[in-house]
This record gives sequence, structure tokens and C-alpha cells, in this order.
Amino acid sequence: MRTVAVGLLGCGTVGASVLRLLEARRDIIEDIGVNLEVAGVLVRDPHRERDVPQGTRVTSDPSFLMECGLVIEAMGGVDRPLDLLRPYLRSGRPVVTANKAMLAERWDELRQYALDGDLYYEASVMAGTPVIGPMSTVLRASRFESLEAVVNGTCNYILTRMEGGDAYEDALAEAQRLGYAEDPPTLDVGGWDSAHKLAVLARFCADGDFALSDISVRGIDTVTPHDIEEARRAGERVKLVASLRRDGDGWAASVAPTRLPADHPLCTAGASRNAMVYRGEECGELIFAGGGAGGTITASAMVGDVLDNLIGFPGHVPLH
Ligand SMILES: NC(=O)c1ccc[n+]([C@@H]2O[C@H](COP(=O)([O-])OP(=O)(O)OC[C@H]3O[C@@H](n4cnc5c(N)ncnc54)[C@H](OP(=O)(O)O)[C@@H]3O)[C@@H](O)[C@H]2O)c1
Repeated sequence: MRTVAVGLLGCGTVGASVLRLLEARRDIIEDIGVNLEVAGVLVRDPHRERDVPQGTRVTSDPSFLMECGLVIEAMGGVDRPLDLLRPYLRSGRPVVTANKAMLAERWDELRQYALDGDLYYEASVMAGTPVIGPMSTVLRASRFESLEAVVNGTCNYILTRMEGGDAYEDALAEAQRLGYAEDPPTLDVGGWDSAHKLAVLARFCADGDFALSDISVRGIDTVTPHDIEEARRAGERVKLVASLRRDGDGWAASVAPTRLPADHPLCTAGASRNAMVYRGEECGELIFAGGGAGGTITASAMVGDVLDNLIGFPGHVPLH
């Protein structure tokens, strides 16, 4: 039995669920010959009461990370997590993250670690609904043609409320009251969260260097009740769609409110679910759909990544 010390950055919605799931899967981890020890959990406020396994070291001092063989990042942000992760990545230690903003915006620095198989990030797009795994493995054999995806639950919720008669401002206020929307909500409603996720996906099927700035981004903040009603009369619905397709020798990538037939798979997936339609020449049309947010479902992908690493599978390697 080998011992692996794990460090966790963040103990919020996702981090706390990761801790609970690591504890619940202790038997499987032991079956692969590993005694996994959580060396510490980094937070801003170590004095807040938290639902974590007894004896967990919760601290605002990152020095415990020095002793870790594997780091799980669930704190969010861009520069702060990268500053903390840099020494581990540089020393060849694996990192599991759900942080699409960091992956999208700091790819210049992170790409080499991903190419080396040291970065695991299934949870960064569609949370526990696996899309990165298939795109980074079996789907490679098929020539990629296009994808369309609904990957932001907050926008889905707001647009669905608007279909029920709410004005945009009221639907947004309700999403914020329920804790769905970030404050400020620009990342969600401005389309940037979807663009972050599209950039992550594009690096598996279009170009390993794909940049966030290559995506044209328009959010749902300009959608009016009139747009929703006009779509409804035509048997359509408005969704915030992230799309990527071949365009001559290059790629056309966008995030924009889009009218789709009401029976389109991106519409029928359900208001609280994410969905992606993926087309490849040989694999044909594939549909992925499932929960795209929430602590437990996100943790399921992150702990899956931890298991992959412990078993010896490399992380998610983008196109070279
Ligand atoms: N929530 C989801 O459904 C979901 C789904 C997929 C991916 N993700 C990604 O997962 C990550 C975490 O999301 P979350 O919803 O769990 O966030 P969250 O609930 O806000 O939790 C963030 C955690 O990080 C800690 N933290 C933040 N800044 C810190 C700093 N500067 N120093 C030390 N600790 C810090 C916080 O400490 P305190 O507790 O002391 O405040 C908190 O424990 C993000 O990258 C997000 O995009 C989330």
C-alpha cells in the first residue's frame, strides 16, 4: 500500500463535496493499493463551521501543500490558484481542477503540463457529465466537424423564466436570490463562462493552441421578451449556444443567444441540465446531456480524475 498525500484548494460547494466523496470511495482507493491522506484544505476563513470529515486540517496557510503528491483545485479565480499550483506543476506533480476560467485564460502556461499528462480537468466543462474524457480519447479517431452546446445553467434558468413571462431583470434577480448566478453576473449572462468552456473543448477537437480571444461572445443580456415570444410563435426557443465548426482552413467559434427548434436536443435536455451535440465524420452525431453544476456532480468528475491518476491514466492531453 503506498500513501499519497492530497492537498485541496477550496472547501466551498465543490471542495466540500470532493472531501465527502473521497471519504465515501476510500474502499475503491484502497483496492488500487493507495492509502490516500488529505494533508490539508486551503480556505479564506478557517474559522467558519464546515461539514467536513472529522480531523480534516482546514487552514488559510498554504504551506501544507509542500508535502502533497497530488493537488485538487476547487477555489476558482485565475491568478491566485495558478500561483499556488505553479510549484507542483513545475515539479511534475499532478493537478486536478474544475477551473475553466484559469484553463481558458492561462493556457499559454498550462498547455505544456496538459501535454505532459499532469493536468486533469473533466469537471471544468459540464461538471460531472463526461465530455472531455471522450474528446481527449476515443473521439480522436473521427474527423471533427462541429459542436453546439448549452453549458451555462444560469442562462438556461433565466431564459426559461423569461419563457414563463418574467422580464430579464426579474429572472436574473431570482437566479441571484437562489444562488445560481455569480455576483456580479457578467461571467454567466455575458457569455464568458460559456466561452471559457468552449475554449477548453476546442483544444481537443480543433486546435491545441485555441485561444479564448478566437471566440466571438454575446451574452443573454440583450434578449428581450419580444425575442422569446417571436421564437415561441415559430415553434422555437432561445438558448445561449456555444458553437464551433470548420470555416475554410480555420474555425468559427461563437457564443450567442440562438433560436432552435423546440424539439432540438439542446432544448429538450431540461432547464437545469447541460447538453452538447457533437459531430464527427466517422462517429456521426453524438449527444451528451446531464447535470452541469452542483457540488456532488462536479465532485464525481474530480474524484474520477483522482482515481484515473492513482491507477496511472494520464490527464487530459489536448491536441499537439
Ligand atoms: N459550483 C459548481 O457547480 C461548479 C461546477 C463546475 C466547476 N466549478 C468550478 O469549481 C471551482 C469552485 O467553485 P465553487 O462553486 O465550489 O466555489 P465556492 O463555493 O465559492 O468555494 C470556493 C472556495 O475556495 C476558497 N477560496 C477562494 N478564494 C480563496 C483564496 N484566495 N485563498 C484561499 N481560499 C480561497 C473559499 O474559501 P472560504 O470558504 O473561506 O470562503 C471556498 O472554500 C470554480 O473554479 C468553479 O468554476 C464549480
